[in-house]
Amino acid sequence: EPQRLTDDESYSLQITADRIQLSADSPLGALHGLETFLQLVQQNHSPAAAGFSVPYVDIRDQPRFPWRGLSLDVSRHFIPVDEVERTIDGLAAVKLNVLHWHLSDDQGFRVESKKFPRLQDYGSDGSYYTQAEVRAVVAYARDRGVRIVPEFDIPGHSTSWLPAYPSLASGPPPYNIVHEFGDPSGVIDPTKDSTYKFLDGFIGEMVKLFPDEYFHIGGDEVSAKAWTSEPHIRDFMKAHHIANAAALQALFNQRVQKILAHRGKRMAGWDEILQPDLPKSILIQSWRGEKSLAAAAREGYPGILSAGYYLDLMQPASQHYAVDPLHGEAADLLPEQKKLILGGEAAMWEELATSENLDSRLWPRLAAIAERFWSPETVSDAGSMYDRLKEVNLWLEWLGLAQRSNLDLMLRRPADR
Ligand code: ACM
Repeated sequence: EPQRLTDDESYSLQITADRIQLSADSPLGALHGLETFLQLVQQNHSPAAAGFSVPYVDIRDQPRFPWRGLSLDVSRHFIPVDEVERTIDGLAAVKLNVLHWHLSDDQGFRVESKKFPRLQDYGSDGSYYTQAEVRAVVAYARDRGVRIVPEFDIPGHSTSWLPAYPSLASGPPPYNIVHEFGDPSGVIDPTKDSTYKFLDGFIGEMVKLFPDEYFHIGGDEVSAKAWTSEPHIRDFMKAHHIANAAALQALFNQRVQKILAHRGKRMAGWDEILQPDLPKSILIQSWRGEKSLAAAAREGYPGILSAGYYLDLMQPASQHYAVDPLHGEAADLLPEQKKLILGGEAAMWEELATSENLDSRLWPRLAAIAERFWSPETVSDAGSMYDRLKEVNLWLEWLGLAQRSNLDLMLRRPADR
């Protein structure tokens, strides 16, 4: 039974002189309560009272938003399974409940397909997750109250599909996986029925690996020129009265959404997918600015905020902490529209990150964003947040996260020979 967006996450924790009581209506709430309890455990340093203690508390707790995630790019630089799992430990510790796994991009295709094995063989440098590893990570996350939402970015950011399957491409071969970063090049051809037949087969295989209700199709930064510079695509647009590339992408999205719906999945995508005529069941992830989140909600689409939470930009925790999914234009929405704003996701893009410096990019700033998604809007004092962040940073190290130890190692390396 997969974890669901609608699961009850509340818990209560009472600690008195003679007992500790944790109550929750669901296992997910109990997991959150256990994390709070672990956070409360203190090591006593006085010799007279050696050991551990917890303070007396009476906590009744529940999250403000049901979707609290991290979007993790593993295409630009591959992140091995044990580090993905270590990241999940951190997410669970700060009560984040979604790992959005960005599994394919121009620079690498990172999941084994048994149906189309050329995808990983030609679309990666040999670093990808086997299906057994994917299943293990999904189960690991499930045990810690974290949903895994897979993303396969299409029709743009999809160069890594094309060395293996050039017939999917809008333009002529050759295509090679990209080793730099910058303007995305390869774009899937939305005009051919064979494209959708392929995607139906691929998605049919992937939905068996990823039990979550949501399936992310990316949809960001599609090069209009990759389409409009191709005569056969221009002819298709003319014949079907398609005015521009955005309208062509809308048609692509409609067909992909039907494939996903047929497999029982809800489609999620970056805010470029917010175009007319898609069913209201899809989810909009706002990255180009908070405006798109409010625009989606006004049209009846659920959404999550990522603009303002890009950890790879190396902004201070206080800057992320000040961003709120219900600020900006969202603050003026009607109450029923506000309910469509389900939360947010931090994003970690890996162009300049590897498994070695990943932890120092994520932590401890991600904990400040986690608090933003969990705690009331009124909890917003940055000084107070930094007091907690200092403690949380040390506590995360107890759990095995290496943001400080790896940093020290990396700093010493150029000096020590
Ligand atoms: C994105 O940052 N291109 C979603």
